[in-house]
Amino acid sequence: MAHYVLVVGASGGIGTAVCRAYAERASTARVVAISRTGLDFDHPKVRALSCDHQPGSIRALVEAHPAWFRQLTRVVICNGQLHSDDFQPEKRIEQLDSEAMMMLFQINTVTPMLYLKALLPCLPPDNTFRREKLAASLHSQPRIVVTVLSARVGSITDNRAGGWYSYRASKAALNMALKTAAIEWWRRNSAVKLLAFHPGTTNTPLSQPYQSRVPPAKLFSTDFVAQKLIAQMDRALPDGALSFVDWAGCDIDW
Ligand SMILES: NC(=O)c1ccc[n+]([C@@H]2O[C@H](COP(=O)([O-])OP(=O)(O)OC[C@H]3O[C@@H](n4cnc5c(N)ncnc54)[C@H](OP(=O)(O)O)[C@@H]3O)[C@@H](O)[C@H]2O)c1
Repeated sequence: MAHYVLVVGASGGIGTAVCRAYAERASTARVVAISRTGLDFDHPKVRALSCDHQPGSIRALVEAHPAWFRQLTRVVICNGQLHSDDFQPEKRIEQLDSEAMMMLFQINTVTPMLYLKALLPCLPPDNTFRREKLAASLHSQPRIVVTVLSARVGSITDNRAGGWYSYRASKAALNMALKTAAIEWWRRNSAVKLLAFHPGTTNTPLSQPYQSRVPPAKLFSTDFVAQKLIAQMDRALPDGALSFVDWAGCDIDW
């Protein structure tokens, strides 16, 4: 089956690697890559679109290309921020800053959800994939897999080290919003599977200031993570649930 792929946040480290990896696969028909700044590579299968990720711009973009979005079988949303020139993740509660916290919620939680909101009505209709025929048709019908980049530090159970209030909370909120969407989408389009994906510590600008204590074997390249992510999307089956999984395919506790 030919895949029509959308990558949002396509100019970041992981987003770029996912675009490139999908473009190089024979089974990919087209990659639509949305980013604020454009891509640093060209490929005949890749169409780059620019967007500032604001609500009106997201809506306008999807409405301008209805045919592309109707064909989608794979969606990867890579937006995320941990630090900026003016903000470092909090080590102590005294460092909480409302503006910085709101900014991280906007980028890490709200922006991915706005893309899901815009996309659902455009996805291929459910009439090709009835729930009662699920088992029989898994291998013949189109499955739509939507992955949003989350993070293990968004796990409430796994939080043993503390710190990073805003980033942790924004990813935990993202997971809850995604779980809610998985329930609603199952009712409205049972061909769709949602994944919240933890890539592991990956060598990108986001993790760069925090890499010194990571053993080399545990600092992944973006190409490695892209391959792991794509393999998991290929295996994922629609079941009405959100899966919170890491790069190795292991479930993460909520
Ligand atoms: N790297 C790691 O170790 C690691 C670990 C766990 C989870 N993650 C998650 O993986 C995802 C990808 O991160 P990365 O490592 O590839 O980081 P990155 O290279 O810094 O990429 C940042 C991403 O966030 C988007 N972004 C940045 N500022 C934004 C803003 N103001 N508004 C909207 N979008 C904005 C960028 O979109 P544009 O393309 O439009 O610029 C880009 O997709 C993030 O969700 C991150 O939380 C990463």
